[in-house]
Amino acid sequence: MEIPPIIDFDPAEGYVFPEKVVPRLSSRAFMAEIRAFVVPPGQVAMWHLGNNGWILKDFRGVLTAIDPYLTDFCASKRTGVPTVKSRILPVFIEPEDFDADVIVITHSHCDHCDPWTVERLACRTTAVFLAPWQAYEVLGTCGVPDSQRILMHPRQTVTVRGVEVMGAFAEPTDATDLNHMGFVFRFAGNRVYYNSGDTAKSELLGHVKEWAPEWMSICINGGYHNLSAWEAAEICALIQPKIAIPAHYDTMPHNLQPPHMFRKSLYEKARNVAYLRLEYFRAYLF
Ligand SMILES: [Fe+2]
Repeated sequence: MEIPPIIDFDPAEGYVFPEKVVPRLSSRAFMAEIRAFVVPPGQVAMWHLGNNGWILKDFRGVLTAIDPYLTDFCASKRTGVPTVKSRILPVFIEPEDFDADVIVITHSHCDHCDPWTVERLACRTTAVFLAPWQAYEVLGTCGVPDSQRILMHPRQTVTVRGVEVMGAFAEPTDATDLNHMGFVFRFAGNRVYYNSGDTAKSELLGHVKEWAPEWMSICINGGYHNLSAWEAAEICALIQPKIAIPAHYDTMPHNLQPPHMFRKSLYEKARNVAYLRLEYFRAYLF
């Protein structure tokens, strides 16, 4: 894992935000590129799909996806008619092309557990889904068979297709879902990654330190009671990963946060933690 330089500002990163994103590849071509990507022994590749959507690939070739939000359901339901809150980030992979072996859902909100995505997922009946209650229920109503979905709880560990998935604490952001979770993953090669999911601030988030994740991604969009960039940096200071990746800042026009402000926050609150923003359509090796 290459640790990026720790600096408070990198003009090369770009500070005009948001910038228009034009997909580099078609949906099918991007999915095919991910499937064909060869991960060096002992490493993990990671791609960002926007929001809290990620694909991670271990060196055996197993694909783990987190919170794929691959429609505009939250704003326009199934109408296809844009609204003022429609996503500004394109969908990179259409659900029909999406192909993962393990899919972890952090909670039931539609930008994480999107019914229209799940209903249309090509791998809806072949992937193994892990989710806390409420999201687990949504998966069932969207056609994920009982045999393919696992109900998860904080401190529960389940190993699926050689990926160890550990349930972590997350603080609910409103009363519509009281079952938020974060997740810690131990991939082949003993590589440990933490995904915060959506969470409000709580000192309890620091408990993830016991699993010693090398890298983590964390929500930085404070507007909906998620962690702000500043609070996210405070949580990174508790957990002490080598690298922290900003999440949930880029997809919906009413829910944006310039990611480089998280870089600055890390520099002030957790100076030994390196900041890394994942560019779209690019594989990062950890
Ligand atoms: Fe969210």
